[in-house]
Amino acid sequence: MSQTKLWGGRFTQPTDKFVEEFTASIAFDKRLFAYDIQGSKAHAEMLGRQGIIAIAEAQQIIAGLDGIRQDIEAGKIEFTVELEDIHMNIESRLIERIGAVGGKLHTGRSRNDQVAVDIRLYLRDESDSILGFLAALEAALIRQAEQNLDVIMPGYTHLQTAQPILYSHHMLAYREMISRDISRLQDLRARFNFMPLGAGALAGTTFPIDREWVAAQLGFDGVTRNSLDSVSDRDFAIEFCSFAAILMMHLSRLAEELILWSSADFNFMELSDAFCTGSSIMPQKKNPDVPELVRGKTGRVYGNLMAMLTLMKSLPLAYNKDMQEDKEPLFDSIDTVKGSLKIFADMITLMKVKADNMRIAAARGFSTATDVADYCVRKGLPFRQAHEVVGKTVRYCVETGKDIPSLSLEEFRAFSPLIDADIYAFVTLEASVNARKATGGTAREAVERELKRLQG
Ligand code: ARG
Repeated sequence: MSQTKLWGGRFTQPTDKFVEEFTASIAFDKRLFAYDIQGSKAHAEMLGRQGIIAIAEAQQIIAGLDGIRQDIEAGKIEFTVELEDIHMNIESRLIERIGAVGGKLHTGRSRNDQVAVDIRLYLRDESDSILGFLAALEAALIRQAEQNLDVIMPGYTHLQTAQPILYSHHMLAYREMISRDISRLQDLRARFNFMPLGAGALAGTTFPIDREWVAAQLGFDGVTRNSLDSVSDRDFAIEFCSFAAILMMHLSRLAEELILWSSADFNFMELSDAFCTGSSIMPQKKNPDVPELVRGKTGRVYGNLMAMLTLMKSLPLAYNKDMQEDKEPLFDSIDTVKGSLKIFADMITLMKVKADNMRIAAARGFSTATDVADYCVRKGLPFRQAHEVVGKTVRYCVETGKDIPSLSLEEFRAFSPLIDADIYAFVTLEASVNARKATGGTAREAVERELKRLQG
């Protein structure tokens, strides 16, 4: 089917077939159809209210757009590359459907401000649904913490045993990251929720439009203030891709830990079968595919951010066709983040902690050495000397195959006469954890205070 170009007037020769395909965006921007129609309806109604077109014409256009929307949803409309993008596919359907009056819709508007409003409406909707997924993940992390409040695990630095911590404290560390991701998304959403229609191609429009009315109609917080900026700005899409990259970085760290913890060597937890697969050759294998894939998908989301930044770099004002390339990276980041968040919330809800194994590991690696040093400091030794005393104690333990809590008082005192029998009360895992009571510490009471604050 050969379609007449909406911009054909100036041209004497038809577009080369391959050029047509190469320049078209319909294959991917068709997902904007509902937002394109939403924006067009508000624009048409405003044109009628302002007397720029007749009210009856506006009504015809709106009814036509509603019909097109229903047809698209019912799968009755086939988009074509001849019509390049979603905007022209819908507009030309409209003209087909309601006749020449459909051609009045584009009065006082350009595809440049049209696409700018479409992406904002779309991204606003997607941001709201992502905020819902983030809240579900946050809740799942809090539930894990509540359900395993007392479980002690080794805390690591350099992936070497450092100090015992509560598993609940570890889960709440991720909660903190996710809550910052939430605030980043809310923040950028508030920054982009302004209405660009009215910028026209770049300079504004000669018609007496009412931008504020359209903005209110479409749920924007106001109108954009400069027509050139309105059609040139893709900061908000870059900000979204940056939010998505940071979020995926967080998820990839949690993914990595779940992969390590569910290995036979750590054996700290069991992921639900639903999130793992077997090996076609090794019958014993249960592979943590879901966290592995989320870890892997982090790469493409980083790539999308880089693609966006590079795409926009050095572009002269105002619109450039380059900017059509903003959509695929943005869409891909949205899809990837949504899928990853959804699957993570479910996986975290269903994972089972092996508390005994975590505890055994926490007791290894002289994890209470700092507690012995702190004990000596309380007895008057400067911290640097205490560090030296405990360093020697640990070396003795390594050489003799003992661990700190099993040393006799005599053995302890060989390193410092300041050490008394009360040392044993300081070197249990519970004592070590619970001594860290200040806000943000791993003591049970500090973690409980945090949980209470989060529930309140
Ligand atoms: N498909 C185009 C895009 O996504 C719409 C805007 C086209 N504007 C233009 N002047 N060619 O960027």
